[in-house]
Amino acid sequence: RTTELDSICLKAEVIPVIAIQRVEDAVPLARALYDGGLTVLEITLRTDCALEAIKRINEALPQASIGVGTVLTPAQYRQAEEVGADFIVTPGTTEALYRYGVTSPVPMLPGVATVSELMTGWQYGYRRFKFFPAEASGGVKALKAFAGPLPDARFCPTGGINLDNAEDYLALKSVMCVGGSWLTPKSLVEAEDWSGIRQLAREAATRFHH
Ligand code: 3PG
Repeated sequence: RTTELDSICLKAEVIPVIAIQRVEDAVPLARALYDGGLTVLEITLRTDCALEAIKRINEALPQASIGVGTVLTPAQYRQAEEVGADFIVTPGTTEALYRYGVTSPVPMLPGVATVSELMTGWQYGYRRFKFFPAEASGGVKALKAFAGPLPDARFCPTGGINLDNAEDYLALKSVMCVGGSWLTPKSLVEAEDWSGIRQLAREAATRFHH
């Protein structure tokens, strides 16, 4: 699992976190990000059309790695497996999710913000985490502190990350990649400005690469 997650995260320093409002936007939006060089995408279950959107993206862009995000329960985890998720992302953790994730063929990146949550995940065998909400939970300083007791944990921080502060996170040994919604601004999506989104993706992909 750790290896699977590492190989996904190695493909991208930046993972767009996406909430699809209109199902028709799903494929052109995902394609713009992919063509811009961001090949790992997190589609959140925050909108009604999310599952349908993920199905369409998987069909149209089988080469992209698709994370299904905002998974709150094992039932949603199963739905994500059914639509072909490559990995699961959760904003926080529950015992039920930790337990279910261990048995699932699809690896989970559990969301944590504290050492206690990390320790619980650690007991279940998790070594890769989402750090959320990163900026509000202490940011780079918190991650540096986590490395004291748990030096082998690796993170994808999200929440308040953008072009200006991504570098500070990526400079840490414990950070595999960062995620955020800044790559899909509402104004560009509503205007169906896919070339603008491709441009933003390209900027991020060129600036940050492994
Ligand atoms: C997430 O779930 O990762 C966040 O909603 C992304 O946070 P951001 O909108 O601050 O980038």
